Amino acid sequence: MSMLNSTMEKTRIIHVEETHSTNSLLREWLEQEPLPTGSVIVADFQTAGRGQVGNVWESERGKNLTFSLVLYPQALPVNQQFLISQIAALSVKETLDAYTEGISIKWPNDIYWQDKKICGMLIENDLSGHNLLRSIIGIGINLNQTIFRGDAPNPVSLWQIVKQEVDREVVLRQFLSRFEAYNQALLSGEKALIHTRYMEALYWREGYHPYADAKGAFSARIYGIEPTGHLLLQSTDGAIRRYAFKEVSYLIQKGV
Ligand code: BTN
Repeated sequence: MSMLNSTMEKTRIIHVEETHSTNSLLREWLEQEPLPTGSVIVADFQTAGRGQVGNVWESERGKNLTFSLVLYPQALPVNQQFLISQIAALSVKETLDAYTEGISIKWPNDIYWQDKKICGMLIENDLSGHNLLRSIIGIGINLNQTIFRGDAPNPVSLWQIVKQEVDREVVLRQFLSRFEAYNQALLSGEKALIHTRYMEALYWREGYHPYADAKGAFSARIYGIEPTGHLLLQSTDGAIRRYAFKEVSYLIQKGV
């Protein structure tokens, strides 16, 4: 990939061969010059790719998609920032749906194929008063990597599923076109539609499954997700439990 001209009129896609982290690089560049909404930095390799809660994001050089996109969702109240996660997750899910069955969104914004993680996101929002000021949406999608040697618990790549290389630039363009449509829906106030689609796409959407919180393991079903992004689980005794990100874990069987 070199400098790409986006099909999206306003989207500027900047390709770098190597950087520490596309999220960090984009933030640094934005300190120097304002980039238009939808601008993307895509890297062939990150030397210090960042995951959620301080984890590292490992991705083999030249094999996968690692990119970050900037938005200025200044009309969005802080307590609705989860909508950004929802539109990004839906856009990745629907992009991957074109290649394989079995793609879902694991709350809040991991993308799964069956019981394995194919994509992770690191969304960093800057706030101004009660509204968002800027959102840096960092996305890593495992595409053509054939072996995972790091300690990520359950990674999978599209190659491992379909046994074929995919063109990273094509996948990026497909994602951006869906993301633009969802962002437009968000700007038009179609928040209920976005939430409905998100709920329909959820991993473990139906039935009881094993979870664990600070008090231990339990079986529950997904009862709902609040506009703030809190997960509501209903345990087998009928009680509703409410969780912020990282307050509950999914007890996914190893080696499934
Ligand atoms: C996770 O832990 O699931 C989130 C992973 C996010 C990885 C992407 S790769 C592109 C962008 N730059 C980063 O440093 N992280 C995100």
